[in-house]
Amino acid sequence: MIPINLSGKTALVTGVADTVGFGWHIAKVLQAAGAQVALAVHPRVLNIVEKTLGRSANDEDRKLPFGVVGEFSPSKVYPSDLQYDTLADVPEEQYEVKGYSNDADFTVSGLAESLKADFGSVDYIIHSVAFSREIKNPLIDTSRRAYLEAISISAYSLTALCHYCLPLMEGREGAVVGLTYIGGDRAVPYYGGGMSSAKAALQIDAKQLSYFLGQKGHRVNLVSPGPYASRAARGIGDIGQMIEHAAAKSPLSRPIEAEEVANTVLFLLSPLSSAITGEVIYVDCGYHAMGN
Ligand SMILES: NC(=O)c1ccc[n+]([C@@H]2O[C@H](COP(=O)([O-])OP(=O)(O)OC[C@H]3O[C@@H](n4cnc5c(N)ncnc54)[C@H](O)[C@@H]3O)[C@@H](O)[C@H]2O)c1
Repeated sequence: MIPINLSGKTALVTGVADTVGFGWHIAKVLQAAGAQVALAVHPRVLNIVEKTLGRSANDEDRKLPFGVVGEFSPSKVYPSDLQYDTLADVPEEQYEVKGYSNDADFTVSGLAESLKADFGSVDYIIHSVAFSREIKNPLIDTSRRAYLEAISISAYSLTALCHYCLPLMEGREGAVVGLTYIGGDRAVPYYGGGMSSAKAALQIDAKQLSYFLGQKGHRVNLVSPGPYASRAARGIGDIGQMIEHAAAKSPLSRPIEAEEVANTVLFLLSPLSSAITGEVIYVDCGYHAMGN
């Protein structure tokens, strides 16, 4: 049995593209705890996610954790590009890209409208999104365009989500959790393309947002996982080597598991953490505590 009961709660999980990334594991654990889950997925990967969800209920990836009987099955899946706040922000040429169409409003405000129509209210928002087109470029060689885009998609999107979804959280004792990385508070040279700046921005934004949303009784926290071989992380460089390095230097001498990140997110949404807000919790086997 899972000791946390989120029955009657609605959770929006962003940033699911496959069954490997943190978003998938977070979404599963929230459903296992009783929440109804809505996914907001990048329009480019909507088909892939829908195919995955169409797989057999016996599929290992879809099985719920904690021995809960059933398979992961979100109540809704929305196409969502978090770099756009309203349709007025979308350039014409974007509609020429595969996955984008006029059929659905894939902007942040459009997402909030869809949630309102389908659920009426939202209790929890999970921000599990990051992107830099120059992630392989060290900061010193990152273009202004890529740097600003990385911050827009990876950091500002948290503020935009809170802004547009806040009315849906009215009276709900809501909670927001985002994912950051130690590269946002320490110099991690391989973490380029503006991503370190984006994570630093995300971290102070989460603190600011914890104040503004706190006035309404909601909490905002971040989880900072150690390196993990997701699709996004594989784009950075030799993720295997990063994982080995972190494991060797960590007090627990091992890599993290995605489930450990998901469980911490669950804790941060649940009443067990009712007085925790504006916090960053490291789920990195203690790596951040070490001096080198
Ligand atoms: N993997 C790691 O080592 C690691 C470590 C610490 C923090 N994180 C953070 O965890 C979060 C999830 O990443 P992940 O490692 O699970 O990788 P991932 O590739 O599974 O997730 C990143 C997601 O961002 C989405 N995305 C990118 N641009 C978007 C946009 N414009 N609009 C909407 N969605 C968009 C992608 O579709 C993808 O689903 C990110 O914030 C990442 O920085 C990852």
